[in-house]
Amino acid sequence: MNDEMGIYVHIPFCKSKCYYCDFYSLKEQNEEVIERYIESVIKELLSYLEILSCSKITTVYFGGGTPSSIDSKYIKQIMDIISLFTYNNLLEATIEVNPADVSENLIKDYIDIGFNRVSIGMQSTNNAVLKSIGRRHSFEDIIKACNTVEKAGINNVSLDVITGLPGDNVETFSKTINDIFTLGDAIKHVSVYSLEVHDNTKLGFLVKEGMYVLPNEDEEREMDKLAKNMLEKEEFNRYEISNYSKKGYESKHNSRYWNQEKYIGIGTAASSYINGKRYKNIDDIEKYIKYINSEKSVVMESEELDKLDIIKEYIILKLRLLDGISKEEYYNKFKEKIYDKYKHEIDKLVELGLLIEDSINIKLTEKGRDLANIVWQEFI
Ligand SMILES: C[S@@+](CC[C@H](N)C(=O)[O-])C[C@H]1O[C@@H](n2cnc3c(N)ncnc32)[C@H](O)[C@@H]1O
Ligand code: SF4
Repeated sequence: MNDEMGIYVHIPFCKSKCYYCDFYSLKEQNEEVIERYIESVIKELLSYLEILSCSKITTVYFGGGTPSSIDSKYIKQIMDIISLFTYNNLLEATIEVNPADVSENLIKDYIDIGFNRVSIGMQSTNNAVLKSIGRRHSFEDIIKACNTVEKAGINNVSLDVITGLPGDNVETFSKTINDIFTLGDAIKHVSVYSLEVHDNTKLGFLVKEGMYVLPNEDEEREMDKLAKNMLEKEEFNRYEISNYSKKGYESKHNSRYWNQEKYIGIGTAASSYINGKRYKNIDDIEKYIKYINSEKSVVMESEELDKLDIIKEYIILKLRLLDGISKEEYYNKFKEKIYDKYKHEIDKLVELGLLIEDSINIKLTEKGRDLANIVWQEFI
């Protein structure tokens, strides 16, 4: 067995398109397309036979799109193949669900298939806000989903929340965070994302036309601070810029990304990082299926990182984590001290109060987290 590995599987189907979303996903729910897609995903997985057979697969993540929007039999078909390679190494298997799709049977199926973690796309608990962004679920669906998942026996649930949504304000947002604490003991993880407005989305159009007004920057910053204070009071500790968890429930799969560790992304629009190379698959389902079936590469972009690229990326990814950069780990990995290349930048950022360092680590300060882009600029 060689290195540890994570597998991400992209399920590009959603029953409706949320106004803010620019992830690659299709509203289409045509069984024939789904079947052909799943067959192709399995073929792509098997094309990694050599790497899979000599890796220790510790994490699996099914994301999207909305994996819960398709029949669980398809998820099982893919997971059955992955299971041929996991032996007893799998520590964490996550599946993303929409609260409106959750039922007792679905979660029982997921447990039988091998999932031990569920990530729920909650976004807000305010029904007016949910409606304004085109979500197809209500707060009542969220309550039911959390109860059902916990009762079925999964005790490791993550919730996604977004700050700065249209119609939201500091008061309504604080209710969203408070509501999290009423959703049961299975909630161990919360991701708090800041709304990104993409021009090519319905939200982008509505904002550009002045039909939607978003909370301003100060309000959004206040929401972020509120989330931090309220979550940390309830022992959800911030371990990454956008992620909070109870002790021991940090996302093992997503931590691979921030620790610059290997993962294979399977499916249309999926990304991979293998042996210092980054790959991105084609984001077009029909082309993806066609290429797989004609044994053509589905990689749309690839980049071989040189040592300097790897160092820069490592610094930026590691600084996202609460613990920041371990000077010793950096030295062991790159056979040089971080100061050899970045003394000037580190001194400057420490002086600006954006970084803090001690004899062991270099990390972002609270101010550094708010102004992270300024920090990244120094290392790009
Ligand atoms: C890839 S989505 C998949 C989750 C699932 N499809 C769902 O929406 O329920 C993961 C999370 O990214 C966040 N997200 C998606 N688009 C975003 C945007 N434009 N700005 C901020 N967060 C976003 C949402 O919180 C979402 O739950
Ligand atoms: S359900 Fe998730 S992936 Fe699908 S459109 Fe909404 S945010 Fe995007």
